[in-house]
Amino acid sequence: MTEHTTGTGIDPGDADEAVKLIVDNAPRMYTWSYERERGQLISLYEKAMASQWNSATDLDWSIDVDPEALAAASAEQAVIVQVARAAASLPGSPFASWGEREFTALGIEALKAQLSQFMHGEQGAMIVAAKITETVPWIDAKYYAATQTMDEARHTEVFARYLHTKLGEAYPMNPPLEAQITALVEDSRWDIAYLGMQIVIESLALAAFGSLLRWTEEPLLRKLLRYVLSDEARHVAFGVISLTEYYEHLSAAELRDRQEFLAENTIRNRTRSAIPEIWERMGVGFERAAPYLSEAARTLDRSVFTNFDEAFFSKLVPNVRKLGLLDANDGHLRRLWADAGLMRWEYADDTATDYATYDAVAADRAAAS
Ligand SMILES: [Fe+2]
Ligand SMILES: [Fe+2]
Repeated sequence: MTEHTTGTGIDPGDADEAVKLIVDNAPRMYTWSYERERGQLISLYEKAMASQWNSATDLDWSIDVDPEALAAASAEQAVIVQVARAAASLPGSPFASWGEREFTALGIEALKAQLSQFMHGEQGAMIVAAKITETVPWIDAKYYAATQTMDEARHTEVFARYLHTKLGEAYPMNPPLEAQITALVEDSRWDIAYLGMQIVIESLALAAFGSLLRWTEEPLLRKLLRYVLSDEARHVAFGVISLTEYYEHLSAAELRDRQEFLAENTIRNRTRSAIPEIWERMGVGFERAAPYLSEAARTLDRSVFTNFDEAFFSKLVPNVRKLGLLDANDGHLRRLWADAGLMRWEYADDTATDYATYDAVAADRAAAS
């Protein structure tokens, strides 16, 4: 270990790929007011305590998972497989010689890459929930965020275990996702951690987990996703309840910063990045595959790509409306999002429905008793 450490015993300059250091600029806060005064947060906290599940005993890890069958079920859903199939017929395509075996293998890699992002994102959520516990000024919110930290630990653990024991080697974290979560951890304003995680990324997670749950029939993954989703829906509710109260008291300039943050995290981050490692593992090489993939993507029906946007924005936009952030500053965010075509989701089905739909743990316990 070198001299100039950060107090962690780890030199940020060390080429140690096993860790990543982030400096958090938000002040930690004690509150001396132990009065329980926020009714909605109190009930959410009680709900969270009653809904804790056990990753080791509530899931049947002895279930055998056949990755090929799993990927075959996802073939229609996996955009990457559809794009590669379309690319196979282009002149000079590196996929020209591919048969069903290769496309199935690609489907498995795509699924591993997706579950790997879930795993890394869940670890990010655990870190952010711990940050909220430290930085939020209200005791009821600290209590709740502590339960969320435990939830996210369990989520990280189950995705890691599913990957490692059922599917094989995980993929690294996608740079855009990593940058997005790092920015939340670094920010000095406690509510930005909430806005970025509980509102933006949790909406994204509800959309992604929900769509995976809709097509997969693999019983272990299904139960795992239902349990994770029932926690996530509660996390979004935590964000909406806390920020609605906090944003009532912010100045116009402060609200404008939050509106800009949301525009930045939706419109400008709308392009999802490819995962180059998938192509390396498939033996094609990303550099060689990329031009054919982009050309093929242009020929595909747009609906292949918009389903996910639909699922994400139909959760995000109604939640942001509840926070009052669409209309502050003479509708600044409403205008930005309208230009990007997002306002059609203003009254879409929101996460309050998920909250009821995914109350899986309570439903399973009721059925068992
Ligand atoms: Fe989670
Ligand atoms: Fe969460």
